[in-house]
Amino acid sequence: MLLLTLGTAAGGGVPQWNCACPGCSGARAHPGRRRSHDSLAVLGDGRSSWFLINAGPDIAEHMETHAELRPGAGGERTPVVRILLTDAELDHTLGLLRLREAHHLEIFATPPVRRALRERLGLDTVLTPYTTLTWHDLPPAGHTPAVAAGIEVSAVPLSTKRPRYAADAVEHDSWVVAARLHDPATGTTAIYAPALAARTEEFTKEAAGADCVLVDGTFWDDEEPRRLGISARTSTGMGHLPIDGPGGTAEWLAQLPARCLYTHLNNTNPLVDPSAPQHGVLAGLGLEVAQDGMVIEL
Ligand code: MLT
Ligand code: MN
Ligand code: ZN
Repeated sequence: MLLLTLGTAAGGGVPQWNCACPGCSGARAHPGRRRSHDSLAVLGDGRSSWFLINAGPDIAEHMETHAELRPGAGGERTPVVRILLTDAELDHTLGLLRLREAHHLEIFATPPVRRALRERLGLDTVLTPYTTLTWHDLPPAGHTPAVAAGIEVSAVPLSTKRPRYAADAVEHDSWVVAARLHDPATGTTAIYAPALAARTEEFTKEAAGADCVLVDGTFWDDEEPRRLGISARTSTGMGHLPIDGPGGTAEWLAQLPARCLYTHLNNTNPLVDPSAPQHGVLAGLGLEVAQDGMVIEL
């Protein structure tokens, strides 16, 4: 399978329209530092069949940027777009509205995510006059996986964290999941987890058996959101394990045999500056920072 990192930023992107922090100002001064909202394209058997994981506000530009995702040369429109969702957060779902020109949308999501989008955001009500929507259950790993583009896809439950617009919705362990992607043709497995709130036993096991792990790199350290004044909560309190420090993900991921890359970087993360010394720390541990537009072959 081929993975294409369409975007690698957390909500707001880099730069974020209303922010002049060093990360955002740096990206305005150096366009090469810009990052769009995190999303991944998975190219399965034959490069003409593909699906997306998460659809943020940049999704139409993402598809236009990459020739593999554009409509074919025969004058035909893209017939169907398949999207797998890791959660119901706005930075992963607003793009669904931008896909209203689609002939047909197929959405793979866990039950609480599907309910939030249908009942809280009114996605069916809003989109049905424009396109047709089919919902698919994203089964838990170990159950019969859903297959899209020849790739087996399943969900690894990560946390009960609900989006703010659904804060009073019923608790469920699959509000946030990691996408597990297995290519039966090559025997390879990838895990995509842009929001990792805790190191659960199941996620630890799945990551240990994977060939590639794309993981939450929202904040460098636990105090970053408080220190920079963007939240009263720590990184962990916001549902994102930090990269560095005790309880951070770097030390643990460095032990895995998989190729590990951080994604979903917030604009406050020092890693958005390519000259930051933190890049050297990660390189020393054998860990990578994803960039927009990377191709990963597994
Ligand atoms: C998150 O990653 O924690 C969410 O996207 C935050 C938000 O946008 O409210
Ligand atoms: Mn987010
Ligand atoms: Zn900023």
